[in-house]
Amino acid sequence: MELSETSPLFSSVKLGSAELKNRFVMAPMTRSRADAEGIQTPLAATYYAQRATAGLIITEATAVTKQGSGYPVIPGIWNDAQVEAWKPVADAIHEKGGLAYLQIFHTGRIAHSSLVGETPVAPSAVAPNGETMTAAFASEGYELPRALSTEEIPAIAAAFGTAAKNAIAAGFDGVEIHGANGYLIDQFLRDGSNKRTDAYGEDRTKFLKQVLDAVIEAVGSDRVGVRLSPWTPFNSMSDSDLETTFRNAAKALSGRGLAYLHILNGGNDNRPSAEAFALELAEIAGAPLIINAGYDAAAATAAIEKGIAAVAFGVPFLANPDLVNRIEKGAELNAPDFATFYVGGEKGYIDYPELASA
Ligand SMILES: Cc1cc2nc3c(=O)[nH]c(=O)nc-3n(C[C@H](O)[C@H](O)[C@H](O)COP(=O)(O)O)c2cc1C
Repeated sequence: MELSETSPLFSSVKLGSAELKNRFVMAPMTRSRADAEGIQTPLAATYYAQRATAGLIITEATAVTKQGSGYPVIPGIWNDAQVEAWKPVADAIHEKGGLAYLQIFHTGRIAHSSLVGETPVAPSAVAPNGETMTAAFASEGYELPRALSTEEIPAIAAAFGTAAKNAIAAGFDGVEIHGANGYLIDQFLRDGSNKRTDAYGEDRTKFLKQVLDAVIEAVGSDRVGVRLSPWTPFNSMSDSDLETTFRNAAKALSGRGLAYLHILNGGNDNRPSAEAFALELAEIAGAPLIINAGYDAAAATAAIEKGIAAVAFGVPFLANPDLVNRIEKGAELNAPDFATFYVGGEKGYIDYPELASA
């Protein structure tokens, strides 16, 4: 018996204005194959179209401004050339019957001045631990970021709105606001990185709310999702009261009619209780829940049975363009090639094999 006969993973679901043909979401994954100007590679059209059997593709994180483009060769969406380069990607996904949201972000302090052309910016002058990549692909320690002035923050929120408009102009079905993994929005949310005493410190969700206002005004709330990662310490994130912080973040999303809330549960091995907290956040936000990190077919099926709307698969989709078909057939999955996650051109990008057709 094939899994499709028994699993709710293969049923359709509506998230905002998008009708997903199944509950498989491709998680956003940076692949570092754009050029130094943030222009997406033509190969991306092939890569994403190969994975268009997902109910929804969420693209790799895409910078809203040069100031927010803190990694080498990641794509941007702030100028016309970048928008033009994304158009064939959205078209190729649609031609294969798929749907796609562009993930938009600002890296904040997770950056190097050689890439962003200025000292990296952050809510507060608190440097992350560890090393990052320069424009010359050298590994260097993080620089001390410059704390943003109160006056310059609204323009960054507005840039998210422009990026969202650009994403729709490029043909995407919506945008995912990247509030996870220690980038600028997450830096504002948590007290380990936000030491401000102005309105953005008194209410650490204020920046998120301004971003939402700008993005919703630009494209409408039913084409907007938000990703948060309460349990993830990645990029030196910390908070003295995580659960309260993320309940507050979920409250900031409520009443807006968002397409979905996407929770990355990584960093907590206790999946059932982490799922329960994610469901609570989605309830507060009043949005359908997409869940992620470490799911296989059985865990994903169980999640849907608990009322989670869809499950995002990262590495499994990276290594298996036909993940949906493989899970349906109970077939083995390809092993991921970690060495080509962020380098390699076509290799490890568009050359993972599909199941031979019977
Ligand atoms: C190569 C790679 C790049 C990633 N880039 C992003 C990204 O751009 N944005 C994001 O929100 N998460 C990113 N992630 C995290 C994934 O979306 C996902 O949360 C992670 O892979 C765990 O899910 P999985 O267990 O299904 O792989 C990335 C993960 C990998 C492996």
